[in-house]
Amino acid sequence: MSQTVNEAKFISFEGTEGVGKTTAINSLCQRLTDAGIEYVQTREPGGSPFAEQLRELLLDTKTDITDDTEMLLMFAARSDHLAKVILPALEAGKWVICDRFVDSTVAYQGYGRGFGNSVMLQKIEGLISQFVPRLPDLTLWLDLPVAEGMQRAGKRSAADRFEQQKMAFFERVYQGFSEQYQAHPQRIQRIDAQGEAEEVAARVWQAVAQKL
Ligand code: TMP
Repeated sequence: MSQTVNEAKFISFEGTEGVGKTTAINSLCQRLTDAGIEYVQTREPGGSPFAEQLRELLLDTKTDITDDTEMLLMFAARSDHLAKVILPALEAGKWVICDRFVDSTVAYQGYGRGFGNSVMLQKIEGLISQFVPRLPDLTLWLDLPVAEGMQRAGKRSAADRFEQQKMAFFERVYQGFSEQYQAHPQRIQRIDAQGEAEEVAARVWQAVAQKL
C-alpha cells in the first residue's frame, strides 16, 4: 500500500467486551509502521486530554448519571477528540486508528441502555449528524459471541461501570453492532474474532488492504 498526503484513512474498531480489539489494533499499527504509513492510535471515550478526563468519570463505578447524560458525555468527549486529535491528524496526512467510535454509542447507549428504542436512537442519530463531521472510512466490527468475550474480559482487571452490566445488556449491545453492520455495509466490515490472535490480525489486515 502506498500513501499520498490526501489519502489518510480513518479506521475504527468496534465490538462487545473482550473481543480482542487491543491486540488487533496493535497488530494493525505494527503493519502500518512496517509499511511506512504514519498514523495516530487513539481511543474513545478519550483520546484527547479533556476526553480522557471524561472517560475517567464515565467508567468510574461511583458515577451516577442518567442515560441521556451518559450519552451526551460520550458526544462531548467525541467532539473534543475530533477537534483536537482526529481531524488535525487526518489533515496532516496521518491515518487514524481509533478504538471505538460512533457505533459504540449506538450499541451501548442506544441498544444497551435504550433497548433499541427509536427515541434514543433518533437522539443519537441527530447528534451524529450535527457533531460528527467525519465518519470512519472503514469500521471493523470484531464479532465474537458475548459469553466468550465476557469470559476473556473477566480474566482482566476489576470491572468498570460498563463491564459491571449483566449479560442481557451485552446481548443488546451485540444486537446493536449487528444492526449497524447491516445498515452500513459499505463502511462496516465484520471480522470473525474467534481463533488465535494472529488469525484475527490477518483477517483485519486483509480487510484493510482490500477496502483501502
Ligand atoms: P473500552 O473498554 O473498549 O476501552 O471502552 C470503554 C467502555 O466505554 C466500554 O465498555 C464501552 C463504553 N462506550 C460506550 O458505552 N459508548 C461509547 O460511545 C463508547 C465510545 C464507549
